[in-house]
Amino acid sequence: MVRLPPPPDTPGLRVKAVVWRLLWPIRWPLSRLLWILSWVFRIIQWVAFGLHVAIDYVRLMYLDYTARPDDIFIVSYPRSGTTWLQMILYQLTTDGNMDFAHIAEKCPWFERSAISKRRLDKLPSPRVFKTHLPYIWLPKRRCRYIYVARNGKDVAWSFYQFYRSHFRYRGSFEQFFRLFMRGWVAWGSWFYHVRGYWKRRNDPRFLFLFYEDMVRDLEGAIRRIAAFCGLQIPEERIAEIVRRCRFDFMKQHEEKFDYAFELLVDQGIMPGRFLRKGQVGEGQQSFTPQLHEEFDRKFQRRLAPLGFPLR
Ligand code: PPS
Repeated sequence: MVRLPPPPDTPGLRVKAVVWRLLWPIRWPLSRLLWILSWVFRIIQWVAFGLHVAIDYVRLMYLDYTARPDDIFIVSYPRSGTTWLQMILYQLTTDGNMDFAHIAEKCPWFERSAISKRRLDKLPSPRVFKTHLPYIWLPKRRCRYIYVARNGKDVAWSFYQFYRSHFRYRGSFEQFFRLFMRGWVAWGSWFYHVRGYWKRRNDPRFLFLFYEDMVRDLEGAIRRIAAFCGLQIPEERIAEIVRRCRFDFMKQHEEKFDYAFELLVDQGIMPGRFLRKGQVGEGQQSFTPQLHEEFDRKFQRRLAPLGFPLR
């Protein structure tokens, strides 16, 4: 740790510091009162947010969503390979270019679109959605559903890591595991989720996949998915699709898949543009003469008289 010397002192500042300390009996209760008020508003905000999300979900699922026969739903319990399937289906249903900010643009999260305001009806066919909804909540229409299941222990561990990295969870794995087993985690019980879909595995609208099979034979899984969706993929494209759906390729483009970046992109924030170019005068090339003039005029009025230099 670097030790900094105290800033220069003046008698006026010392008096202020003494008065500030003497005011403590007034400052303390005022601060507590504001703390309570802040909590009251926080709780009101949570309740209002919960109601707003619930209403928007119901609106989306039962009123606004109109299925198309070529819609494809990727369904899973979290941390089971959802994003991987998003990428596979994106590759299979488009030319597969990586020219997008986040995969959610191409393959949105169905239930989240109620709050992210993504216009599902504006997407070109075939539309591909991801969803974590349990079977009971799934909009059951005349379209295709691909369910991916993963070993529950691996899911628990991956979910725990996700909670730590994305939800600031600070408990131990044992503590998380107990919550997971009771279904007291986001999206509820893994057992209930998998059970609901396993019972429908013979429904012709459903394709039931295992993450472990995809790891073992990715190309085979891709061919199965393409056949299930009725997609004719030219043989010469298969190797490239497999390459792009491998873990190392997706890891290289991680920001296009990370949930945290989805939240930012939804808010119109573009990740990876924070440390931009670090050059002098680069931005001024975009100034029109009018903008230059407007700035210079205000500068001459407000700062130039003080001798402030414009470098
Ligand atoms: S989420 O948050 O629900 O969308 O997560 P989800 O995408 O369902 O699952 C994330 C896990 O899937 C792994 N993954 C992959 N494994 C192998 N190959 C590829 N290409 C691939 N893409 C994603 C990802 O690494 C997560 O698993 P863990 O065990 O945490 O690494």
